[in-house]
Amino acid sequence: MDVERLVARHYAQGGLEAAILAGLAAAGKDPARLGMDDLAPVDEFHIGGRRATEELAARLPLAPGMKLLDIGSGLGGAARFLAARHGCDVTGIDLTAEYVAVANMLAARVGLAGRVRYLEGSAMALPFADASFDGATMLHVGMNIADKGALFRGVRRVLKPGGFFAIYDVMAEDGGGDLAYPVPWATTAATSFVERAASYRAWLAESGFVVTHERNRRDLAMEFFARLRAAGANGPPPLGLHLVMGEATRAKVANMIGNVERGLVAPVEIVARAE
Ligand SMILES: C[S@@+](CC[C@H](N)C(=O)[O-])C[C@H]1O[C@@H](n2cnc3c(N)ncnc32)[C@H](O)[C@@H]1O
Repeated sequence: MDVERLVARHYAQGGLEAAILAGLAAAGKDPARLGMDDLAPVDEFHIGGRRATEELAARLPLAPGMKLLDIGSGLGGAARFLAARHGCDVTGIDLTAEYVAVANMLAARVGLAGRVRYLEGSAMALPFADASFDGATMLHVGMNIADKGALFRGVRRVLKPGGFFAIYDVMAEDGGGDLAYPVPWATTAATSFVERAASYRAWLAESGFVVTHERNRRDLAMEFFARLRAAGANGPPPLGLHLVMGEATRAKVANMIGNVERGLVAPVEIVARAE
């Protein structure tokens, strides 16, 4: 089976829509009167959750009406945040059909369907005309993509000159070694392609970008893991990423924390400008 099919199989859970609606109800939310913030415990599938999205967005030259592309949009939390808080018009694209369906359902429920839409497709074959977007975001997706040079060339093609590309990925630390699996993004090493920030910078430069910002978010990760541990001390909360990660949640989270604590990987922000 090719990598993209394995990646989509890793993420698809089956029954995710029903599980999220039940989790919202159990958390005391009325599914008929949801706000974007109610979804944050489950729809921000990356280290640091909503806070990481907010802090990345604070580094971007965002303006109302901007057309943005969110690559590997997952359940769509980051795209909805950019639409609701910054007034942007956001298109998400993702390999995992179930995530795309749930992302569109959640956008409709919070009244954002006019400003956000999610399509099923590959980041390696973006179905958009040249220079379609003012900016692109990609949160915790590059770890699933082997050929990041080709990925970045494709992103550059669909951006207008001067547009931004904001990446927030788990990257290899200097002196890193073999990771423990499963992790939230991969069941085995067959679909995990973790690279150093220096390699990202080199591929970005070769693809027509100038890097304008880079920040290692290891400290945010350690705080996030401490909060996860505290929140899960008496079992999982009604609404959380365990609904998205499924049965192997405990092993995936334990390995991710261990891999960061051992200094093998850390989440890193990189922002670049299309030349
Ligand atoms: C860890 S999740 C992050 C989702 C979302 N960006 C977020 O932060 O909440 C990784 C997502 O990337 C998607 N993905 C992985 N490889 C992809 C590819 N080649 N093209 C499109 N989406 C991809 C997966 O389907 C999954 O939804």
